[in-house]
Amino acid sequence: MNKNELEEIELSLLLEGVYQRYGYDFREYAEASLKRRVRQCIREEQVTTISGLQEKILREPACMERFLMTMSVDVTAMFRDPAFYLALRKKVVPLLRAEPFIRIWHAGCAGGEEVYSMAILLQEEGLYEKSRLYATDMNGVLLEKAKAGIFKLNAMKDYTANYMQAGGLCTFADYYVAKYDNAILGAELRTNIVWAQHNLVTDASFNEFHLILCRNVMIYFNKSLQARVHNLLYDSLADSGVLGLGSKESIKFTSHETDYDVLDDRHKLYRRRK
Ligand SMILES: C[S@@+](CC[C@H](N)C(=O)[O-])C[C@H]1O[C@@H](n2cnc3c(N)ncnc32)[C@H](O)[C@@H]1O
Repeated sequence: MNKNELEEIELSLLLEGVYQRYGYDFREYAEASLKRRVRQCIREEQVTTISGLQEKILREPACMERFLMTMSVDVTAMFRDPAFYLALRKKVVPLLRAEPFIRIWHAGCAGGEEVYSMAILLQEEGLYEKSRLYATDMNGVLLEKAKAGIFKLNAMKDYTANYMQAGGLCTFADYYVAKYDNAILGAELRTNIVWAQHNLVTDASFNEFHLILCRNVMIYFNKSLQARVHNLLYDSLADSGVLGLGSKESIKFTSHETDYDVLDDRHKLYRRRK
């Protein structure tokens, strides 16, 4: 047996062990990025093999927390892909306006930047008061950070540029207070957000939404897991509800391709058919 074959066995045992011991199911994550993350953990935990990493993770919950953090890939930004938010304003806001009450799900919200961007957009459009934003992620540590609404001050320059390109109507600096190295978002942006741990692989649908953003999450899943998550998202959308995906994701070639009308092909906005 060569080294690669042995590592395949070790990897599947590691993922099985993590699932059995902690309930996190990475068995159907996309192989290339999964292997990159595992290699990163091996280096950081100063072990030499995947089996060595498995032993440490199974015996030390703190090591599992670090593993989860590495697996999370929490790269995000406020008004990430500004043109997406511009498309939201132009094409989705008019649909939401017609609803008496708006439920939005941010699935895989990482540190909350996407959620607060939505809160700002809704506030500027006069819709925040009648909205409830459900922000979920598998990683509870990220959620705690998100809940606080405190970001690095030096990120605000880029976020301001994004906000302006995204069609922001006010002055971005009015949404936060600078304190030392931090930008603290205004409390009014946090009032209608519900934060909860939810795993797209193992947890079920929990409400019916008018808009779901699940951006830059499914790129880390293999095809069969993507298909299952698409089922979950579809089942969680109200009739005529809108799904927003990340720039490298699409509804094309999934089993739900014909269940949606394309609202904006370029910006990955799809509307569930009745
Ligand atoms: C790259 S971030 C995307 C953040 C944000 N949606 C964006 O586009 O900027 C991916 C997030 O998905 C979360 N994630 C990964 N697998 C998940 C799962 N099975 N269930 C829920 N969240 C998951 C990670 O913890 C991470 O916070």
